[in-house]
Amino acid sequence: MSPTSVDTTHRVWIATTNENIKHVKTTLEKANIYDKTSKIQKVVSNADEHFIACNGKISLSKYHSLIPTTVLKSSAEDTIPASLQRSLSSLSLGSQEYALFMAEQPFREHVESSRSSNPISRVAQLWLEQLRRYSGPEIQHIIQAESWSYQIYHPLLLLGPSSFGSDTWRTLFNDKTVIDEFSVLYSMMCSVSGCTHIAINGRILPEVESSVSSQDSVINVLRSPSCLVPLHGKFGSRTDVASRTTLEESLWASATQNGIHQIFAPIHTMFSRGNIKEKARILRLAQQETESYSAIDLYAGIGYFAFSYAKGGAAVVLGWEINEWSVEGFRRGASKNGWGVKVYNGGEPSVNSLRSWLDSRNGHESSSPKLAIFAESNEAAPRQMEILRNVMPPVRHVNCGYLPSSSESWTLAIRCLDRNRGGCIHVHENVRAKYIEARGLEIQDIFETLLEKHLGDTSMTLQCRHTERVKSYAPGVVHCVFDIYVSREIGGL
Ligand SMILES: C[S@@+](CC[C@H](N)C(=O)[O-])C[C@H]1O[C@@H](n2cnc3c(N)ncnc32)[C@H](O)[C@@H]1O
Repeated sequence: MSPTSVDTTHRVWIATTNENIKHVKTTLEKANIYDKTSKIQKVVSNADEHFIACNGKISLSKYHSLIPTTVLKSSAEDTIPASLQRSLSSLSLGSQEYALFMAEQPFREHVESSRSSNPISRVAQLWLEQLRRYSGPEIQHIIQAESWSYQIYHPLLLLGPSSFGSDTWRTLFNDKTVIDEFSVLYSMMCSVSGCTHIAINGRILPEVESSVSSQDSVINVLRSPSCLVPLHGKFGSRTDVASRTTLEESLWASATQNGIHQIFAPIHTMFSRGNIKEKARILRLAQQETESYSAIDLYAGIGYFAFSYAKGGAAVVLGWEINEWSVEGFRRGASKNGWGVKVYNGGEPSVNSLRSWLDSRNGHESSSPKLAIFAESNEAAPRQMEILRNVMPPVRHVNCGYLPSSSESWTLAIRCLDRNRGGCIHVHENVRAKYIEARGLEIQDIFETLLEKHLGDTSMTLQCRHTERVKSYAPGVVHCVFDIYVSREIGGL
C-alpha cells in the first residue's frame, strides 16, 4: 500500500468579501463541506504570512473574511484537492467572490501531537476532537484501537475489514445526534485521500446466501464481494443484472499494478491485490516468448492475468468470464490500457468478423494486442477455439485461475492449447503446505491421462516444470500455481 503522505495537514479556507459571507457559508453547508467547529475569521493585516494562496500568492487586502471548510490537504502538493475543485465548480459561487487559502492553523498542534503517520487516522482523530465528546486520552485510545488500514482504488477509499469495529464507533454510529456528523468525517477522509467514495472492505465469502431461499447458501462462483459496506458516495445497484443503466450508474474503481490498469465495480467484483507477484511472473513469462502467439484466460475476471499476457507481448488474448460486471470491467480496463477489445455475449463469433478485426488496426498500434472476452462459461472455449484457431496465432498459454481448485477447467485447457507448438497451462490450486510437491506430481499424472484421452496424441509430452507459491490462503494452505508444459518433446519449449 502506498497511502497518500501527509506531512503537515493544512485546512483549506475560502476567503471572501463581507457581503458574500452568507452566500458562501450556506453554499458550503449545502455541500457538506462547511466546518461548523471553527469560527469564520477576519483577515488580519499580516495575513499573508499565515495563509498561502493555493494558486499563487493572492493579496488578501480585497477579502475580509475566511470561511473554514472541512477540507484538509497535504502540504506535499501545491494544488487544490480535485474533490474540492469539483465541489466548488458545482456550487454557484461566482469566481470573483472567493479565493482559496491553505492554512496550517488551527490543526497544526493537534496533527503534530498525533503519533500516527496515517492520514486517515489523523482526520478521524481531528473529527473526534471536533465532536467534543471524549477527552484527549480517550481519543488516543479510540484511535489506537483501530488498525486504520486502507487502500486507494481511485475514486474509492477502501477501509480495512475491521474498520470502525470497536464498541465506541458502534455507539457513535447508533447515536442519532452524531450520525449527521459522519458526513463531515467522510468529507475529511475523501479530502486527504483524493477520493470521492468510501467503503469498508469485506472478505469474499466462499458461499453466499441463495436468492431462492434465505436458509440456503450457494457456492460464490462469481466471487462477488457481498460483504463490502459502502459508507459514502453512490455505488450503484447491487443487482446482478448488468443492464446498460445499472452498468452506467455503477461506481468503477481502478487499480494499477505492474504498469497495467484494471477497472472493477467494487460491489460486484472482487479485486485481489495479493496476486500481484503472480501477475508479474506471468508478464515475465509472456515476454520470454519469441514468436507471435495467443493466450487464453479461462477465468478472466477483470483481466488479472489476461492483461499480463497482453502487456507481455501476446498478439491475441481471449478470456471467458460469467460475471457480467467483470466482463464490463475487462472491457473498460483493456481500453484504458490502450488495447483493442471486443465483447462476445455468448453465441458463435463470426470468423470473418473476428478475422477482419484481428487484421484491422482500429486506431491502435499494429503491435498493440487484441483482446476478446466471451461472456459465457468457459465450457464453450474448446468449441469456440475450433472456429478461431485458424485465424489467430498459436495458443501458447492457458490460465486456469480458480480456487480452491481449477480442476474443472483442465480438460478445456488441454483442448485450447496449440496442438503443434504446445505451450504452458498455469494451474491454480490451494494445497496443504506439506503436500505441494506431491500434488505437483499428481497434477502432472492427471494431465497425462487427460492429454491421452482428449487429444489421443502420444507424441506430446508434458511436465510440471515449476511450482509457484503465490500466497498463504489460510493457515497451512498455500495458493499455488503449477506450470504444466506440453510439448512434442521435452526441452522443446
Ligand atoms: C477467483 S476469480 C479469478 C479472477 C482472477 N483470475 C484472479 O485470480 O484473481 C474467478 C473468476 O472466474 C469466473 N468464473 C467462475 N466460473 C466460471 C466459468 N465456468 N466460466 C467462466 N468464468 C467463470 C468468476 O466469475 C470470477 O470472476
